[in-house]
Amino acid sequence: MFRDSHLPKEGFAVPDHSRFRTGLSAPVGAELTAFDLPVTGRVPVELNGRYLRNGPNPLGLDDPGSHWLLGAGMVHGVRLRDGRAQWYRNRWIRSRDVAAELGQPWPGGPVHAGEDTAPNTHVLRHAGRILATMEGGPLPYELSEELDTLGACDFHGTLRGGFAAHTKADPRTGELHAVAYFWSWRRVRHLVIDASGKVVRSTDVPIPDGPMMHDFALTERYVVLFDLPMTFSKAAVAAGERLPYTWNPGHQARVGLLPREGGAQDVRWCEIEPCWLFHALNAYDDGDRVVVDVIRYARHYDIAAMDGPGPVALERWTVDPAGGRVTARQLDDRPQEFPRVDERVVTRPHRYGYSAVVGELNRATLSLDGTFADAAFGDSLLKHDFAAGTVEAHRLPRDAMAGEALFVPASADAAEDDGYVLAFVHDPERGAADLLILAAQDFTGDPVARIHLPARIPLGFHGAWLPDE
Ligand SMILES: [Fe+2]
Repeated sequence: MFRDSHLPKEGFAVPDHSRFRTGLSAPVGAELTAFDLPVTGRVPVELNGRYLRNGPNPLGLDDPGSHWLLGAGMVHGVRLRDGRAQWYRNRWIRSRDVAAELGQPWPGGPVHAGEDTAPNTHVLRHAGRILATMEGGPLPYELSEELDTLGACDFHGTLRGGFAAHTKADPRTGELHAVAYFWSWRRVRHLVIDASGKVVRSTDVPIPDGPMMHDFALTERYVVLFDLPMTFSKAAVAAGERLPYTWNPGHQARVGLLPREGGAQDVRWCEIEPCWLFHALNAYDDGDRVVVDVIRYARHYDIAAMDGPGPVALERWTVDPAGGRVTARQLDDRPQEFPRVDERVVTRPHRYGYSAVVGELNRATLSLDGTFADAAFGDSLLKHDFAAGTVEAHRLPRDAMAGEALFVPASADAAEDDGYVLAFVHDPERGAADLLILAAQDFTGDPVARIHLPARIPLGFHGAWLPDE
């Protein structure tokens, strides 16, 4: 991501993003380790592993310009084993700056173009390494199973340039796919990391204006690129914006299909109406066409303010590369975010999907007490059955805000919906977080377990379930 050191030091009014640091998005100030956590209900004995989730937890609170999306990453983790919640840990990722702030040695490792930000967006495991990731330039940082930072990762020296927040693991090949972008590039880079953890394919796709590309999708044949009118802005840099990407009406919105074994010349671009999206749920091939489900923000979006005027809805896009067309069909008009599927169906047709309702709170009330970022989160989790055309909502208690909900299969060969849905939710009674465990096939029923954590977890981004190997 664009570093503060590139910015003009004086003479500009730095935008005030302090609203991102209040309420449930406010950072926590301590790293905790707690064992044998109290549980209401029962922890499923099938769940042996770690649930990890990343999110911003800024250290530099004296900087009013710091953007929520740029805060130093903190990973929260809960260890489940033999029906017990063995521990909770939360740890900042030790980039050089974070280590210095904490008065500790920096674990070291490679740095891309001076972009040493503690990655705050996602966490995954690939080729035996646990990695915290972020888009826009920084390299991932590797973590231990106890969430200690081991150092920055360039995939054994095989990665050129920066990495990405979102990745797709192909369950068939064991490959990890990513699409990287960087403010000074006029291209995006599709990366394939093999099952041994090395970059084995790197394909640059030229794109003008330097668009932000937060997520992508993957089918058995294609990498699906979302080239949208949110582009790097020198004017925003000059204005002191830490996240200098702005809505650019002059940039044609389009969806690109890059054949997985192809080059930039093989991309089939299909123009679409201007819109914004952070996330795709999943994608798959349907004959010669590609189906991709996305959370679409209609009309323009303001990434600096994290706000847009239009509705947010789940849509199914059918991309017809022969005709150069994308047709959209609304699947659910509830505003929602953080879409996830069972990781085992990535690249193939999915029947089920999970997401979180967003923006249900009264924005006027929020602006009064300043907890703006809370509006990005809501009080219900959703389960979609796309075959039946139904949606179930698990309503949380009042003020129990939830973010991403993650499906975890009951076993490696369980059916698509046979498992659990995990999410951190805020418990307003205790002023602390619970790890909520729902039975996916009894989604609206009482939780299977609520694991009571010793502290609040700030609203954050994405997570992963790492089963014991
Ligand atoms: Fe994301």
